[in-house]
Amino acid sequence: MTDRPLTGRMREDGAALDLRAYERAGGYAALRDALRRLAPAEVQKRVKDSGLRGRGGAGFPTGQKWSFVPMGADAPHPKYLVVNADEMEPGTFKDRLLMERDPHQLVEGVILSAYAIEADVAYIFLRWAYKLSEARLARAIAEAYDAGYLGRQILGSGYSLELRLHISGGRYMAGEETGLINALEGRRANPRSKPPYPAVVGLWGRPTVVNNVETICNVPHVIGRGAEAYRKLSATGEGGTKLYGASGRVKRPGLWELPLGTTIREILEEHAGGMRDGVRFRGLLPGGASTDFLVDEHLDAPMDFESLQKHGSRMGTGTMIVLDDRTCPVGMIRNLEEFFAQESCGWCTPCWAGLHWVADILRDFEEGRGEMADLDTLAAHARLLAPGNTYCALAPGAAEPLQSGLRHFRDDFERHVREHRCPWR
Ligand SMILES: Cc1cc2nc3c(=O)[nH]c(=O)nc-3n(C[C@H](O)[C@H](O)[C@H](O)COP(=O)(O)O)c2cc1C
Ligand code: SF4
Repeated sequence: MTDRPLTGRMREDGAALDLRAYERAGGYAALRDALRRLAPAEVQKRVKDSGLRGRGGAGFPTGQKWSFVPMGADAPHPKYLVVNADEMEPGTFKDRLLMERDPHQLVEGVILSAYAIEADVAYIFLRWAYKLSEARLARAIAEAYDAGYLGRQILGSGYSLELRLHISGGRYMAGEETGLINALEGRRANPRSKPPYPAVVGLWGRPTVVNNVETICNVPHVIGRGAEAYRKLSATGEGGTKLYGASGRVKRPGLWELPLGTTIREILEEHAGGMRDGVRFRGLLPGGASTDFLVDEHLDAPMDFESLQKHGSRMGTGTMIVLDDRTCPVGMIRNLEEFFAQESCGWCTPCWAGLHWVADILRDFEEGRGEMADLDTLAAHARLLAPGNTYCALAPGAAEPLQSGLRHFRDDFERHVREHRCPWR
């Protein structure tokens, strides 16, 4: 049976594990042990050695990120840990499960991660629409304070931490880590220029680490099992398990915790049950909307950070959106580009002007007004949206389904022009 550290102890009936149930299942043992036996630097080292990479989209090595935080007596305080629970990436619904069903796992991960960087205050920055997560996290945080896991002198150690739940205003940009920091400070969620990086100058100018919910939920298991055992959970050596998901016209849309590096084919065919009767697979976005399409020839690729990059895409959030032959690829891409255009913060021209332009052209294709020359204009926009041309990764993310869609589904675009209509309507 698959070893599922993140989800294995969740209740079948959908209720959350309360403090007692979490402790009975071994919860908070890693924290007790770490506070007694490990210095913050040792917690950092274990996370670095485990190979844990961020699960929020960019896949940055977690231990390495933590190592940029100034440590020791001369470090500026307060220092902050912020959990990114904004989860507004289209097609992504993994952090919600972790927060609703096992909120103490996140709380324990927060305390361990904050201890590793000697943070004084931690925030969970939560998507406003996640009302059940809000209620269950608020209860878990209150229980953790009562039990002495939070607050002053945690479990009699010399370490103290305050944990606050902050509800996001509800924009996609507020999930970008520096936009998030601005939002937490009560400002508009525009990104900040980097450097300086948040690890050195972050929330209110102080050292700050921003990590995704799933990333933080892994930390108690890295500490509890040890780096080597954790690394071995994966199928390809990148470290750990991953919450993979599938949406679209598959038989069983859902979410599964599997060894990191499970193949796309296994996720799609075994866990999601394959395509629904009467529809054929055409492609998928492997990790939310901001990733490049993969097609038939990629189905045997392991879903891990390095393999997907080699195949011209990205792991992103690991929750795939599946395209079938009864759905117009041009319409699907238009839908996503409209979302990105609406969520642009308005700073960079290729993004605020270009994305609306792209969405308008795609609408023209769908309504029979597209021309062959528009394909070149779309490709030119995709190049302008590339990394390096904009302040943040929203625009490069928006370019990914566009550029790869133009490559894999060019015939479908051309059919719209030849037939002066959308063939799927
Ligand atoms: C527009 C935009 C939205 C983002 N939204 C989220 C989000 O909702 N949750 C998240 O964890 N990361 C999001 N990210 C990525 C964060 O900037 C950051 O890389 C991540 O929170 C770091 O955590 P990790 O290292 O644990 O992955 C977003 C990035 C961009 C550009
Ligand atoms: S890429 Fe878009 S969202 Fe990001 S800073 Fe520029 S305008 Fe704002």
